[in-house]
Amino acid sequence: MCGIVGYIGHQSAAPILIKGLHQLEYRGYDSAGIALSGKEQQAFHLFKAKGKVSNLEAKVSSVDSAESASLTTGIGHTRWATHGEPSETNAHPHLSMSGELALVHNGIIENYQLLKEQLSGYGYQFKSQTDTEVLVQLIDYFYQKNGKQLMKAVSQALNKAIGAYAIVVMEQSNPNHLVAARKASPLVIGIGKDNEEFFLGSDATPLVEYTHKVIYLDDEQIADIQPGTAVTITNLDESLANVNIKDVDIDISALSKGGFPHFMQKEIFEQPHCIENSMRGRVIQREDGLYEIKLSALTNFKAKLIRARHVIIVACGTSWHAGLIGKQLIEEMCRIRVEVEYASEFRYRNPVIEKDDVVIAISQSGETADTLAAIQLAKSEGALVFGIVNGVGSSIARAADTGIYIHVGPEIGVASTKAFTGQITVLTMLALALGNALGTISEEKFQNICSQLTTIPEKMEMVLKQNDKIEQLSERFTYAKNFLYLGRGYNYPVALEGALKLKEISYIHAEGYPAAEMKHGPIALVDKEMPIVTIATHDELYHKIISNMQEVQSRNGSILAIITEGDDEVKRMVSEYVEIPSIHSCLVPLLSVLPMQLLAYHVAVKKGLNVDMPRNLAKSVTVE
Ligand code: AGP
Ligand code: GLU
Repeated sequence: MCGIVGYIGHQSAAPILIKGLHQLEYRGYDSAGIALSGKEQQAFHLFKAKGKVSNLEAKVSSVDSAESASLTTGIGHTRWATHGEPSETNAHPHLSMSGELALVHNGIIENYQLLKEQLSGYGYQFKSQTDTEVLVQLIDYFYQKNGKQLMKAVSQALNKAIGAYAIVVMEQSNPNHLVAARKASPLVIGIGKDNEEFFLGSDATPLVEYTHKVIYLDDEQIADIQPGTAVTITNLDESLANVNIKDVDIDISALSKGGFPHFMQKEIFEQPHCIENSMRGRVIQREDGLYEIKLSALTNFKAKLIRARHVIIVACGTSWHAGLIGKQLIEEMCRIRVEVEYASEFRYRNPVIEKDDVVIAISQSGETADTLAAIQLAKSEGALVFGIVNGVGSSIARAADTGIYIHVGPEIGVASTKAFTGQITVLTMLALALGNALGTISEEKFQNICSQLTTIPEKMEMVLKQNDKIEQLSERFTYAKNFLYLGRGYNYPVALEGALKLKEISYIHAEGYPAAEMKHGPIALVDKEMPIVTIATHDELYHKIISNMQEVQSRNGSILAIITEGDDEVKRMVSEYVEIPSIHSCLVPLLSVLPMQLLAYHVAVKKGLNVDMPRNLAKSVTVE
């Protein structure tokens, strides 16, 4: 949640910060602000605006260019409010009452009430309703007390703060100084040439344009940043920590819309290419024509993975839906018991975790607070943690013992699309490779599924060609108030995902159900007003789902069916359908989810909604 940027060096800070905030806007977008500084002892130049970064940009453009060039230090923030409504007053940066410190913060200070009362007792007054303002006043309290040593003041304050934070602090007395710290919320420092300038970001995307050398701060670390000197890092107890400089490589073209009106549409259409990337070097056809799957994580941790008698998948949202498909894949191919847990429930439930258990954590961003906490719990109980992550170098990727990147490139649209199919692809490869190693899948079945897996990109293209048809269909659903999504077997999690996509971006209430469960309750909702999206592809449960559709039709429900190409039986039954190519049942979700994504997208666009930044949501949920 929320995007933080920072700059310190010799260039004008404002344009760099504004550009960075635009790139991080997907993380939070209810208000934005920047603080700039140039000369010693001069008051900060503070700009804040409610709503989008473009509103802030308009305000910042009023600074005259000569003055802007002299303001070479700055911090910026795009907010996802947790404490206090989205407003200019609550927008970051927040200043201390003395006006000497400015702070941006991502996360939640849980004991802010208590700290606020204590600080009020010392005469501090507060302008905003945020927990963040309490933190800047607390730092100020120690700053004033200990001879204005910022590093020391930050560590003293953070030792008193309970909760999650990524922060960057500026001091008025020294514009050549920034202090940054993190715990449970991400923060990356980009190092410019010869340490002459530094760039900060909640993730590496706003940095890669300027540098590929980065430091990922670890939890409870504080960085001292001054141009001309290497960054030093201390722990909360003020002891020195190691500084690990890493190389990042992000394709900058992935950060633009590439001619599409929205990131979400671009990301939907990128999927064939993304899935190729996910499989590259992993699904290999040998010279004799047979397939093998090479996953380095499996080579390095083979003994532990093979020993596992129990797998627990932890994730949230769309990644949790991918986990439900992963369960079916692993159980079918590896005959290992798999449970799928919401990370947020798992972490507080005192779950049974045994030493030989494997916990698979799935996350697009790699920064989801609940998933990260679930990993920490699993590790403390001695389980092997296997990450399936998109965010390269993200907190979850670093916290896991091993894992597989899905390699679909940065996903910017808040509604996850290409990460979902990337996650399923990786789970399929993992289940196949592990099943092969365990001998729980026959060679014939292994070869058959591998070879069908390699056809997914071209079959995805065939589904995406029906975009215009789905756009037309969406027209008549714009005014619906409720949707039901039904699927069975491998398509049940796809039904859940279809409903989530629609809810997130079109604000239409939607529920996903295993089709047979419908008669145990939801059927009461069925009438001619309620669209029912049913995935009825050819598999073991095909005839069962046809019966479920008949039950709906007997009650005047209107069905949009996702069917296997050429299925005349369903075509005779329903007037609205989308066909997908025939494929092995365990691979169907990779195709059946595409019409769901396109339907949600077109309904939201037809309703005139902001599909990339739907209300109340944020891309990376770094608060619990
Ligand atoms: C997906 O469309 C959602 N925006 C959301 O449910 C998301 O999948 C969830 O927050 C998990 O995020 P992660 O994959 O980055 O951990
Ligand atoms: N808790 C802080 C606030 O409400 C920070 C929220 C964020 O991460 O954007 O302002």
